[in-house]
Amino acid sequence: MSSVSCCASQVSFSRLEDFKSLAKKRLPSDVWEYYSFPSCNGFTIQENERAFQRYRLLPRVLRDVSRVDTTATVLGSQLDMPVAIAPTAHHSLAHPDGEKATATGAASANSAFVLSSFANCSMEDIAQTAPHGVRWFYLILQNDPDRTRELLQRAERAGFTAIWLTVDQPRFQFQHRPESEMKSAEGVRLPNLTFDDAPGDARSPEFTAYLRDNVKQPITWDDVVWLRKNTSLKIVLKGILSAEDAKEAVKVGVDGICVSNHGGRQLDGVPASIDALPDIVRAVGGKVEVYVDGGVRTGTDVLKALALGARCVFIGRPVLWGLAANGAEGVHQVLQLFKEQLNLAMAQAGCSQLSDIKPSLVIHESYYL
Ligand code: FNR
Repeated sequence: MSSVSCCASQVSFSRLEDFKSLAKKRLPSDVWEYYSFPSCNGFTIQENERAFQRYRLLPRVLRDVSRVDTTATVLGSQLDMPVAIAPTAHHSLAHPDGEKATATGAASANSAFVLSSFANCSMEDIAQTAPHGVRWFYLILQNDPDRTRELLQRAERAGFTAIWLTVDQPRFQFQHRPESEMKSAEGVRLPNLTFDDAPGDARSPEFTAYLRDNVKQPITWDDVVWLRKNTSLKIVLKGILSAEDAKEAVKVGVDGICVSNHGGRQLDGVPASIDALPDIVRAVGGKVEVYVDGGVRTGTDVLKALALGARCVFIGRPVLWGLAANGAEGVHQVLQLFKEQLNLAMAQAGCSQLSDIKPSLVIHESYYL
């Protein structure tokens, strides 16, 4: 396997684990803890990674894999790989250039980037820094629909082609925001969530009160219907784990579903997202695109997810590790690592293009026990 050369430290990184170790070394401890944080006692965060180990690959042989093509079409955009960046908050805590660096790394790898409403760089900054990058926006609905419409218009003007709505967070923990206690978060901005009337210091109790007063929570299916009527952009619901909810999502006219448990940061004790994926793929019957995130750490994880029916996988923490380790270049390197590992895994499994990846390529370990 070819390795990715990390310029900043002159280290040759051929494993994601190396980015993780360097990120841990470079980040202040409060930021490392914030990025690593699981909910409750951390069952689901561990299960996300463990579950991938329980699927076995059954390769096909004697096929011509002299050329392997990992290109994918996701939400109508052509990407070099079916691996893209999940929305995560506060990239300026990992690198001074924040989400601008992430967007640059994603664009140079020809992947896609979901910008979080809890980002520290504005949608307009992202458009200016990486004008050709594929970008989607994770929207937080406001109590005032006019404010939400304003955010939608900004997203559209800034070239975001899809709106992601995270549906597994019915209650924001504003009163216990970890950022408000983080020394490293001093002076952080949330320019895609707040308006000019927000108090300046994002760590103050006034700011917490502002969020509580302005952000719509909980959101319901009626809000998804409202969103469908108020934007022509594509819509993805992120955080669905049940087949029944997936069918409802198809009914209300969304374009995609991301099977996710928020990287184990919301309700603890839910299944690993890779385990929830097959039922949801079956339930939607190809009517919308289905993605998955949570615990994806290697090219073989990506291959397994694709075989189980995902059109694209999303990575959260691995991107933060790349960003902390080596800025935009680190994000690019992490994505390249996934692409190279997927390329090799596909060749070894007898697949020269994504359409060769069939459900019969994976078998759950219980079959062998
Ligand atoms: C997240 N995630 C997240 N999700 C979301 O919809 N909106 C957000 O603002 C955030 N913020 C966020 C911050 C941090 C620090 C992490 C680690 C995660 C969840 C994220 O989109 C994704 O679902 C998981 O990170 C995927 O799991 P892995 O790849 O981190 O294991």
